[in-house]
Parts: sequence; C-alpha cells; structure tokens
Amino acid sequence: LARGADGRDLAGRHVVVSAGGTREPLDPVRFIGNRSSGLQGYALARTAVARGARVTLVSANVALPDPAGVEVVRVGSAVEMREAVLSAAAGADAVVMAAAVADFRPVDYRESKIKKADGAEPDPIRLVKNPDILAELGDIRRPDQVIVGFAAETDDVLANGRAKLARKRSDLLVVNQVGEDLAFGRPDNAAIILGADGSRTDVPRGAKEALAESVWDLVAARLDRRPA
Ligand code: CTP
Ligand code: CA
Repeated sequence: LARGADGRDLAGRHVVVSAGGTREPLDPVRFIGNRSSGLQGYALARTAVARGARVTLVSANVALPDPAGVEVVRVGSAVEMREAVLSAAAGADAVVMAAAVADFRPVDYRESKIKKADGAEPDPIRLVKNPDILAELGDIRRPDQVIVGFAAETDDVLANGRAKLARKRSDLLVVNQVGEDLAFGRPDNAAIILGADGSRTDVPRGAKEALAESVWDLVAARLDRRPA
C-alpha cells in the first residue's frame, strides 16, 4: 500500500469525521438514543491526523477525550449534527460519517419534565424522520470530494450494503455486522468496505485503528485520482 515514505498521504487534506450517536430529546432529562461509543470515529480522527490531515471531528455524546490535533465540534441531536457536518464539509476533501444518526426524533419536545399522571397510561411517543445527512452529502458533493458512510447490518449484510451505497451516492460504505456483542463499545471491529466502483475490501477482525487505516487507504487512493 503506497502511503509514501513518511506515511503522510493525507497531508494538505481536510477531512471531516462524525462520531458517536445522536440523542433525540423528549424533555429536559430524557432522550431516544443508541449504543454508539464513538470509538470507531475517534480512531478515524486519530489515524487521519497521523497521516497528515487537518481533521474536524463532529462528535455526538461520547465519553472520550478530545484527540490531540483535532478540531472537535460537539453536537447532541441529528439536526445539530447535520448543521455541523454540512458546514464543515463545504470545504473538505473527504467526509466520513461514522456516527450513528437516529433515524427518527420525537415530534414534540416538552419544555418541562414529563410526569406520570395518576393511574393513566402514558401517551405514545410520536416520531418524525430526521434528515439523512449522508444522503444530503451525496447530493451536494463536489466531484472532487470523497464521501464515506458506515452501515451496521444484522442480516443480508452485503445486499443491504450495496443497496445503501447506491441509495446514498457515497464513494465507500463500511459495512459491519452487528449483534449483541459485536462492534458496539468494543475496541475491535471487522468489516467489508464496498466501493461505488464495484470494489470490495475485506478487513479482518482487529483494532478499530486498523479498520480506520483501511478506510484512509481507500480514501487516499481516490483523492489521488482527483485534482488536489
Ligand atoms: N446516516 C445519516 N443520517 C441519518 C441516518 C444515517 O447520515 N439520518 C448515515 C450514518 O452516519 C451512516 C449511514 O448513513 O454513515 C448509514 O446509516 P444506516 O443507519 O445504516 O442507514 P439508514 O439509511 O438509516 O438505513 P436503516 O437504518 O434503515 O438500515
Ligand atoms: Ca439508520
């Protein structure tokens, strides 16, 4: 893998990485969330810095220290993440959406804590769709940008991955199989990276850093084929 003598094949590039999982508030103390730890996104940010990139990390609800040399933008909900990612992406060479973005958010936000009413059953939670940030990036992309998505699938991993890659008009989709004790909160990961050009790269189970390096290998190769 040609990473150059100094390994800084992303020097002069600006990359945006999203990490963690969005929280969709119900009231001041409650939210709908997910189990993303942010470890994969943070590994992507650290490895990109080591390869010479300027890195903006849009981070949602993680319990991790800021990586050295990274500009960290903290967000809570999917709507906030969209704002931060789209604004950082405008001048970026590559965007990697490693965050778990909630598909839906509650229609209503209660300014005061929701209380139990004596004896009454609770109201159902009505949900509305969140914006699909990755799909939007695919729509507004410049031709020289590289857009990367992540997909966690429990079944038909490859077929679902190919369909998702096409639907979102990304260059690369990192597909991992998730289950009870796979991926979430663990330091290691295994994945298949699908390319819009038909390519397939299998990354064996290993540290999330190793998967991150494989992602940057593929991103760097695509950037090199495009005007700087
Ligand atoms: N994503 C996003 N905005 C959303 C939902 C997802 O940007 N509202 C991004 C994720 O960050 C990830 C990719 O899209 O990079 C795939 O997310 P995933 O949940 O697997 O795909 P969905 O299109 O939401 O499909 P589903 O959950 O129904 O499988
Ligand atoms: Ca989803």
